[in-house]
Amino acid sequence: MDYALKAHRKDEFIEWTKSLLTVPFVLHAGSSNHFRIGDDSRQSAEARRRYAEIFRDLEQLIADQIYYQSLNDADLGRLRQMVPSVGHFFTRLPLERAFYVQDEKRALSKRRMVAPSFNDVRLILNTAQAMALAKPITRLELATFDGDVTLYEDGANLEEGSPQITRILALLERGVAIGIVTAAGYPDPSGKMYLVRFGALIDAVLNSNLDHEYKANLLVMGGECNYLFRLDPDIGGLRYIDREEWALDEMLAWREDAVSELLDKAEQVLKRQIEVLSMTHTATLYRKERSIGMIPLKGKRIPRENLEEVVLNVQHSLSASPAAKELYFCAFNGGHDVWVDVGDKRFGVLCLQRYLGGIAMERTLHVGDQFASIGSNDFKARLVAATVWIADPQETVEIIDELVDYLDESNSE
Ligand code: IMP
Ligand code: MG
Repeated sequence: MDYALKAHRKDEFIEWTKSLLTVPFVLHAGSSNHFRIGDDSRQSAEARRRYAEIFRDLEQLIADQIYYQSLNDADLGRLRQMVPSVGHFFTRLPLERAFYVQDEKRALSKRRMVAPSFNDVRLILNTAQAMALAKPITRLELATFDGDVTLYEDGANLEEGSPQITRILALLERGVAIGIVTAAGYPDPSGKMYLVRFGALIDAVLNSNLDHEYKANLLVMGGECNYLFRLDPDIGGLRYIDREEWALDEMLAWREDAVSELLDKAEQVLKRQIEVLSMTHTATLYRKERSIGMIPLKGKRIPRENLEEVVLNVQHSLSASPAAKELYFCAFNGGHDVWVDVGDKRFGVLCLQRYLGGIAMERTLHVGDQFASIGSNDFKARLVAATVWIADPQETVEIIDELVDYLDESNSE
């Protein structure tokens, strides 16, 4: 039961990388007792050189891992042997160069007291991923974005004039298709709930001077992988697309009975959890066609620990249920609520890749905030696309800016 140890909230690869960087931090970044002029610069140059070396070595380990992946023997890769939970790499990662970029911004090699952190490593990985997706052989064709926390604050809407809007326009202008892959699922074919969440983006794209076909490159996948909409400049809004046109055969084969069995079971577990955790006055259930949520009652807050407890319980019980043998589900902690959705973002991204004519996984990027291995809903997208892990909507703006710079730089080479 590593749940209790919160292992699911740690990313083993990032933690391991951090531990490698701690060695030069301890040995080379500290100030000497006999301080002489010039020592500061000498020490930070030394730390910088050694950090860069570690990132260069990691680059090699990843290249070796990619080689074993290509032989279908990922477990033999040295990196997988050292970090068993490390995922699939869709591209090589120019980590040394990414380190230099982030070091200029964050000055991590200048720090004396605070070792390279989780966030330092996460941002270096993101930069390296953006660089890789500008290379001609893996040039980005599809960028998918989570909604809450990634494009807008949790529970908020994308407001007119938001910086995220101009960044998405910049990607569309460069021929990149955009998918908003959100858990928020509304069966209504008018898509009006999505217009509330990000109508400002849709208006901005419609009013831009992009070509018709580029405008139609904006899609919305709701309910993880349950409802697809595409921007249609002719009708000036979102057009609902029938499931038969885009869902994988595997998904079309999920029986409606299995869907209701899964949601019934989830409902039972969530109900019981509300009682066990004495939340009858703070939380309630909300069942939809293809999802069920435990949400706070008006004016109430569910403690974070309880959200975690509920998500782990429901994950555990559902995994063992017969319905889960037939279809996939995603149970996650949405920050204020807990949801169980039919399907997950892996399917959402896969369907978009296929619907758009067969975009390769290594030319797809998913941007999201939920990458812990249990109780998070962006994690599954890792199986089918390169990913960047952001912490707030401002980081989304920054990583798109980098991406656009690298794409333009690679074009002019
Ligand atoms: P995301 O971050 O864009 O994937 O959105 C997740 C949030 O959408 C959740 O935390 C919920 O507050 C909200 N939401 C609304 N409807 C649903 C649903 O049917 N399933 C999951 N989340 C939903
Ligand atoms: Mg999110």
